[in-house]
Amino acid sequence: MKTATYPDRARVDARDKVLGKTRFAADVPLARMAHAMTVPSRIVRGRIVSFDLTAARAVKGVLAVLTWHDFEGVKSPGFLMRGGYAFQGHQPMLSDRLVHRGEPIALVVAESLAIASDAAARVRAEYEEMPFGAVMEAPLAQALEATPTHTRGDTRAALATAAFRVEGEYLSPLQCQNPMELISTTAAWQDGTLTLHEGTQNSGALKFGVAAALGLDPARVEVKSPYLGGGFGQKNSLQGQTVLVARAAMLLDRPVKLVMPRAQLFHTSSFRPASRHRVRLGADAEGRLVAASHEADMQNGREDTFAANFSELTARLYDTPNYESSVRLVRTDVQTPGFMRAPFEQPAAFAFESAMDELAHAAGQDPLAFRLANDAVRDPVTGHPFSSRFLKACLEEGARRFGWERRGTAPASMRAADGTRIGWGVAVGAYKAAMSPSIARLRVRADGSTRLSVSGHEMGQGIRTAIFAALTEGLAIDPDRVEIVIGDPGAVPQHLTAGSWGTASTVPVVRQAAQALQARFDALRDGRPVHGNLHQMLARWRRPHIEVEVRLQAPGQPDAVFERLQRGLPAAGGPDYPAFVSFSHVAHFVEVRIEPGTRRIRVPRVVSVVDCGRVVSPRTAASQVRGGVVWGIGAALREAAEVDPRHGGVLNNDLAEYVLPVNADIGEIDVGFIDRPDPLLNEAGVKGIGEVAMVGVAAAIANAIFHATGRRLRTLPMRAEDLL
Ligand code: MOS
Repeated sequence: MKTATYPDRARVDARDKVLGKTRFAADVPLARMAHAMTVPSRIVRGRIVSFDLTAARAVKGVLAVLTWHDFEGVKSPGFLMRGGYAFQGHQPMLSDRLVHRGEPIALVVAESLAIASDAAARVRAEYEEMPFGAVMEAPLAQALEATPTHTRGDTRAALATAAFRVEGEYLSPLQCQNPMELISTTAAWQDGTLTLHEGTQNSGALKFGVAAALGLDPARVEVKSPYLGGGFGQKNSLQGQTVLVARAAMLLDRPVKLVMPRAQLFHTSSFRPASRHRVRLGADAEGRLVAASHEADMQNGREDTFAANFSELTARLYDTPNYESSVRLVRTDVQTPGFMRAPFEQPAAFAFESAMDELAHAAGQDPLAFRLANDAVRDPVTGHPFSSRFLKACLEEGARRFGWERRGTAPASMRAADGTRIGWGVAVGAYKAAMSPSIARLRVRADGSTRLSVSGHEMGQGIRTAIFAALTEGLAIDPDRVEIVIGDPGAVPQHLTAGSWGTASTVPVVRQAAQALQARFDALRDGRPVHGNLHQMLARWRRPHIEVEVRLQAPGQPDAVFERLQRGLPAAGGPDYPAFVSFSHVAHFVEVRIEPGTRRIRVPRVVSVVDCGRVVSPRTAASQVRGGVVWGIGAALREAAEVDPRHGGVLNNDLAEYVLPVNADIGEIDVGFIDRPDPLLNEAGVKGIGEVAMVGVAAAIANAIFHATGRRLRTLPMRAEDLL
């Protein structure tokens, strides 16, 4: 087991990124490149009656204006959660049928982007419209039956007899990921091989999904995704445009590039659906949580079923003997929603951790002491032990750093000289610690170079830096000549990188590869003396290289998961393992300041302490947490997609009006790590960090606002007008 801490180191790709040398997918230059633009549907639901393409085709430099008539024989790659490869089971442009506003109805290919955009604006279509329901409240929205998700004890009875009770309904709006890097596809068809350059978290799904959609041999589809400018779940599977652009490149026999404009992304990619949470909690006279009920509604599309999993968090966070949860999906006419950073945990924690604060207040308890007293010691759902759980340590260390003991107990009791109200809030979060099957192939050469191919994708989270740290730690190789090949299913099979399992999957398999290579070297050495590094010794022994390949899956997973990995299908395991349950944990402490006149809510100070097992790359891990906290601040105070129920679609579909936090909104974010290795999940002791970082931030802010004002806000985002 990994016992020593990892040293701080810069991002291995920092210098190239700062110099602008890092090549993202849409930066790849290809000879004779043609440029594409999609034409979005102007209706929500119905069919296309006819096209008028004359004006578009007349623009000089237009190579093709493609509609569904040109995609005959193409199939949907299928919905990811049902054995397919795409997040939209409805692949656009395979027929005249339209299911949501903004889905592509035509693809213009031209000599330049300007020409393609100009011509796209000239495409005309006649539609036959059908009635629709775009939001959960619409008459045509269809609520499915509520499904119980977890039950233990007798929640109803325990609530009825509880000494203290709270009940609230909490709302979280539709939100969109908006990574800096737009979704793009560059496709080239040459000598019977299709090569795709696309920033994706799931290059394996692209390979097999495009092959399935276009009827190609997967061996003839190559995918390159060495870097992403942000993923956050938006790029976790095959996108609708990928199939279209690939087909266009084959039809035109020229490389084709499409960069989807941000305004279209709000309507083409998956998103965080709106959700409603009704939480009821009860405590006994001593302040022990005795019952919890969590009923949720979540927006869905009509084509696919994106299942909600809010109670994975709320059923297991606290040691309460009585718990029940249910979820109801509400079908609306939108594209299929999906995973957006801490997809269920963010809204669930907002609701549940707000309610916990309300209950602490009702019971006359300090919210920190209340959480410490009700912490779960074993997993309340399975009765299994947690592989590791340092949530108490997160709370205690966070409280120490924050100075929690100086907090005035009563709401609205802390005020600055100018009348600014000050509030301090706390909330906790957890996120499953999962692992995906991974393969690593490591080759060390006598010429001084090293090549490591491994399953994983660099989304900007720093996985290359973590891989580098794990590889160079134990191996005498030249660190300046290490090539790390990821996001390339042609090198080794690639699994979806998501669910915060990247580091926990990649680092252990890389450590295993380094150990296997060292063992191979030692066998070759056969007791001879070693002078210098591995490369020098190989040169001396006239061995051009040594190579090893190793593989690793989650604890308890059968070897059959590698067959899924080989086919680009999701095969991650966790958080439930045969003998234990694994989660990462976090505690957030937040100070809010509310201006006396405007009621503007500011967050000058956050302390976040994380239990993510062993920290492999301290600098990028801290960045992940800061990023998660910024997202949490955004979710709490800024982000909401405004949907017009009369027309469907997101009205504020650009970064000017879809309001995100900016630098001026962010104060001090003090990040702490427990940095104790998990003893059971993997040999590196790594859990995960990307999503847990934001879980609970919005609740901590809501709790701080309550502490500052005595007002309880239960609808996100929380805005100045809510405090007038
Ligand atoms: Mo993440 S929302 O699982 O990419």
